[in-house]
Amino acid sequence: MQDLIKRLVELYGPTGREEQVAQYISDVMEPLVDQIHTDAMGNLIAIKRGPADAKKIMLAAHMDEIGVIITDIDDDGFLRFSNIGGVSPFTLIGQRVRFADGTIGVFGQEKLDEIKDLKFSKMFIDIGATSRQEAETKVNIGDAGVYHREFTLQGQRVIAKSLDNRIGCAVLIETARRLQTSPHEIYFVFTSQEEVGLRGARTAAYSIDPDYGIAVDVTGTGDTPEAPRMAVSLGKGAAIKVKDRSVITHPKVKDLLVNTAKAKGISYQMEVLERGGTDAGSIHLTRSGVPTGAVSIPSRYIHTPSEMVDLGDVDDCVKLLVAALEGPWTRAIEE
Ligand code: CO
Ligand code: ZN
Repeated sequence: MQDLIKRLVELYGPTGREEQVAQYISDVMEPLVDQIHTDAMGNLIAIKRGPADAKKIMLAAHMDEIGVIITDIDDDGFLRFSNIGGVSPFTLIGQRVRFADGTIGVFGQEKLDEIKDLKFSKMFIDIGATSRQEAETKVNIGDAGVYHREFTLQGQRVIAKSLDNRIGCAVLIETARRLQTSPHEIYFVFTSQEEVGLRGARTAAYSIDPDYGIAVDVTGTGDTPEAPRMAVSLGKGAAIKVKDRSVITHPKVKDLLVNTAKAKGISYQMEVLERGGTDAGSIHLTRSGVPTGAVSIPSRYIHTPSEMVDLGDVDDCVKLLVAALEGPWTRAIEE
């Protein structure tokens, strides 16, 4: 699974440009499912058919990663940029950006009296060009860039860019690999454009019209020095979401996940995320409403170039999903 994670995090896939990620995942998922296609929004939908009376369960993990987008190029070849999703200017100092064609840029900033005044409008990207013309041979207005960072495995811990949410994609793929039999029809959905407002999941859920939903994404932790209080720690198991800014999970789906974890002896922790949302936010509001839960991978330093997750937690998330999908849902949820 380490190789799968490394491949996924090093792919280029800013919001709206998920094609490379979708292509790679499609190749990996094809032998594991009955049907696979990409829709107009760029979602990759892989379907494992079930018996005739099967309920439809939609699993969702977003493929896109946060990034920057070029807004202007000056006469000396410096690029101005805006953010795609939740990027802080402070995380960009000293970092590198990579564009679709492999061009690397360095983030620089104008003279500032106080560092707290740093904002995107005071920053630029330097790709080593000496003129606008030279810069334009490599990049153009509207091109998107992502953090340029390599994958690192240290003990049980992975350090990489875009673990939000390629680690969720890896969990879905591994779940499809390990799942032997299920009474359900399962839609493994690798969604687009989550980082700008859960957009891909919205249309995917509409077309699939699922009976139940589960989003798989990263969540924060409260286990670093002077961290904001949060009862989630790295290495303590799969996080079962109760609430974030986009969703209050369906209590019976949440209970089903908790009861499954207890019955199978899988480590889990309850998650209340005070900031941020996830694809569950779009899925549960689809049509007349979809009972939806979420399984989260605890992650430190989310939305920085060096996010960190624990492989034990990743494995617990896979085990929890496999065990939950093997069992019946209707009685547990609708009674
Ligand atoms: Co994110
Ligand atoms: Zn995410």
